[in-house]
Amino acid sequence: YELTQRPARLRILPGLETDAWTYDGTFPGPTIVSRSGRRTVVRHRNELPRPTVVHLHGGHTPYGSDGYPTALLLPRNSTAGTAGAAGMAGMPGMSGAGDAQDTAAGQRTYTYPMEQRAATLWYHDHRMGFTGPNVWHGLAGFHLVHDDEEEALPLPAGERDIPLLIADRSFAADGSFQYPALDAGQRTAGVTDRYMDGVLGDVVLVNGAPWPVLETQRLRYRLRLLNGSNARRYRLALDPAPPGGGALVQIGGDGGLLERPLAHDTLDIAPAERFDVVVDFARYRPGTRVRLVNRLGSGGTATVMRFDVSGARPPADDSRVPDRLSTIPAPRADRAAATRTFRFQRRAGSGWTINGRPYEPGRPLATVRLGTTEVWRFVTDFHHPVHLHLNHFQVTARNGRSPGPYDAGWKDTVDLRPAESVEIVTRFTDYPGRFLLHCHNLEHEDMGMMADFVTE
Ligand code: C2O
Ligand code: CU
Ligand code: CU
Repeated sequence: YELTQRPARLRILPGLETDAWTYDGTFPGPTIVSRSGRRTVVRHRNELPRPTVVHLHGGHTPYGSDGYPTALLLPRNSTAGTAGAAGMAGMPGMSGAGDAQDTAAGQRTYTYPMEQRAATLWYHDHRMGFTGPNVWHGLAGFHLVHDDEEEALPLPAGERDIPLLIADRSFAADGSFQYPALDAGQRTAGVTDRYMDGVLGDVVLVNGAPWPVLETQRLRYRLRLLNGSNARRYRLALDPAPPGGGALVQIGGDGGLLERPLAHDTLDIAPAERFDVVVDFARYRPGTRVRLVNRLGSGGTATVMRFDVSGARPPADDSRVPDRLSTIPAPRADRAAATRTFRFQRRAGSGWTINGRPYEPGRPLATVRLGTTEVWRFVTDFHHPVHLHLNHFQVTARNGRSPGPYDAGWKDTVDLRPAESVEIVTRFTDYPGRFLLHCHNLEHEDMGMMADFVTE
């Protein structure tokens, strides 16, 4: 794949134009499709007037291609960018081992081995201190991984397998994206106070469009839901609910298929989480207008999109959701080589921190041995969607009890409400280097709620 990061003028709101920063001129960027076990190489060129960093979220990726926050992809024709990067060059972690970078030409090649199962991944910007504004302005897209196991199942496929990137944005009167002037370097109490919840928009976009309508047949559809918002969480539901409820049949999460399907009436989805659901529109009468709604928040964020169920007689549905989807090995907390606790907290004077420290590249909070299993405990003060790079994990406890209804399967992002604790188990594998643990509220992340861990 070759992608060019460039400014583009998009039509998002009726009659207005929005200047965006895009992958290849669209928002979301082009969907990348990979095959499990087959390497995918993506060459990015940067024609934006600012440095960027590309991260494949959910990718089991070597350090040099993971998008370390200071491993900048410099703009092609900008001396300003080069000068800015010079200041970064002395930072530890700036040089990525095994990294194919051609700074002068403003391009960088990211290599993804794709030694991982089928899943809905996404790629987005990860530049230190500027991830929030970069993603808000459009730097996000899907990256789907397929494998034989999943393809052998009779799930809805082809045109009835639909990735949906849900993201809120605010617009100025002239149609431009409105993002507050947060000084990323500034971690003062004033800034964290004002944007305690991160930056929230008042219009919800689905695949870059406000309140879109999808005509559906009375058949099953697979919807790959991704919360690509900077900071907003949603409680999604279908309105009306079909008779009998359980409209959203979850078949997968961040790290691919669940062991068994899980029927939900509502789905809580935090930034960066993915829920792969099957909806059977044959449960609705012909002509029903079914809204996907958000039951959290208010105003413009209530309706997310609409499905208009066709009155026409559908062909026979060749899809179904098997009772057993996959096999997920039980987490082996008893084999853990270490148990560590990470506290996500706001600290007066230093902003958003993990274990009391705001992010500093090259200063790891943990060093783990590859091939070993660890138990990590996350503890929060406020709401924080916690994300781990490199390996997926399983949630084994929430507040000392069983995991919650949205914790099933392999995950890479787990949502913590205020004053919660979650325990995860993961095995660190394959790639030595420096990886990230962070809050995926992008403003919290930019204001310091991120940490390195080293694998060796
Ligand atoms: Cu989705 Cu470290 O990011
Ligand atoms: Cu990630
Ligand atoms: Cu947070």
